[in-house]
Amino acid sequence: MTSAGSHLSNVWAKTTDLQVASGHGCYVVDINGNEYLDFTAGIAAASTGHSHPKVVKAIAEQAERFVHAQANVYTHDLLEPLAGRLADITPDSIDTFFFTTSSDVALETAVKISKHATRRHNVIVFDGAFHGRTHLTMAMSSSRSIDRKGYGPFPPGIFVAPFPDPHASDQEAEISRALRGLDRLFMTQTDPDEVAAIVLEPVISERGYIPTPAAFIAGIAARCQEYGILFVADEVQSGFGRTGKMFAIESHDVEPDILCMAKGIASGFPFAAIGMRRSIDDQWRKGSQGGSSNGNPIGCAAALATIEVLTEPGFLDNVHSRGTQLIDGLRDLQQLDDGLRHVRGRGLMVATEFDTSERAVSIVEHCLKENQLILMTAGTRNRTIRWMPPLVVTTDEIRDALSAFAAAIRATS
Ligand SMILES: Cc1ncc(COP(=O)(O)O)c(C=O)c1O
Repeated sequence: MTSAGSHLSNVWAKTTDLQVASGHGCYVVDINGNEYLDFTAGIAAASTGHSHPKVVKAIAEQAERFVHAQANVYTHDLLEPLAGRLADITPDSIDTFFFTTSSDVALETAVKISKHATRRHNVIVFDGAFHGRTHLTMAMSSSRSIDRKGYGPFPPGIFVAPFPDPHASDQEAEISRALRGLDRLFMTQTDPDEVAAIVLEPVISERGYIPTPAAFIAGIAARCQEYGILFVADEVQSGFGRTGKMFAIESHDVEPDILCMAKGIASGFPFAAIGMRRSIDDQWRKGSQGGSSNGNPIGCAAALATIEVLTEPGFLDNVHSRGTQLIDGLRDLQQLDDGLRHVRGRGLMVATEFDTSERAVSIVEHCLKENQLILMTAGTRNRTIRWMPPLVVTTDEIRDALSAFAAAIRATS
């Protein structure tokens, strides 16, 4: 509860009660000067770590020149360079960009673009997905009903298709079952001719860091092609190096029509981008989208500096290697305790799923109190601990986090 006399909203659910004063790299420092190893990266947003010097410098220099250069009124000199850099690092199909300020607006905008380009009105999403907290993106989200409770009814035209159960023993059969569910949805709820877009997370985020199976993605892409539906990849959490590739969709033989990016794109500065095929943008009616802050120059500067860091030679190799170090270490710890049911992930988007929520929560609490390691839970049943350190994490920092986790496992078993 917010303390008496506070004028601050009480709505934020708190992972810790830390009052932080500053951050650097993988650490945050509280107001008493205590350092904490932050393996949340502010929910996978501080990609280059807290206050990376290159990002700070770019923001400071840009603030001296222009805080706000509204994109309808004039064109500032970072818009085109940022679009160019994004075209270099996104999949080949994506070559045209619109900028906004947050993840959920990026998703909303992607849906608007899809409807406008296809002249269709329905959208398909998947069971357990999370796409945001605006009315439309809540309608698209089904990771936890507690997030939706009290806010409905939601905008119509959103259809939820089955997602394969990651724990099914026969994955091939499970993926076929989920794809048959999608086909059935086409037969019983919305004709494919009325579907503008299928929106998919290449790694499911809030439901508990579940990599979307390759055969499932391929099956969806085939149906998009067959029916003229746009394939929208939500890479808000999985993008910008998080999985060891610049974008998680690169691991698949699929060319998305639209790509949503946020969080890591500007190291946590509120900034987001929607990438699309030029042919889609060509149909976007001029003047039908704008926004006072969309394309903000400080956000563009932060994004350009972030991309510079992420594309340094060896950067993504380090993400891959640290991810392997982390997963291997966690799998070793699985031997300690039957309660640690699953270890999974890609790069530095890693999940440890426990048998109960109580156990996961008590481990997170122990890590914080005894070893000053910040972790957080995820998942529909809140029994998954997710590991999403800043992408600059070192071998020693992974080792320290693993030893704190091992101590917590022992103390809570
Ligand atoms: C895949 C995905 N899409 C959209 C969102 C919404 O992001 P935000 O909460 O920053 O609006 C999230 C947040 O976790 C996400 O993981």
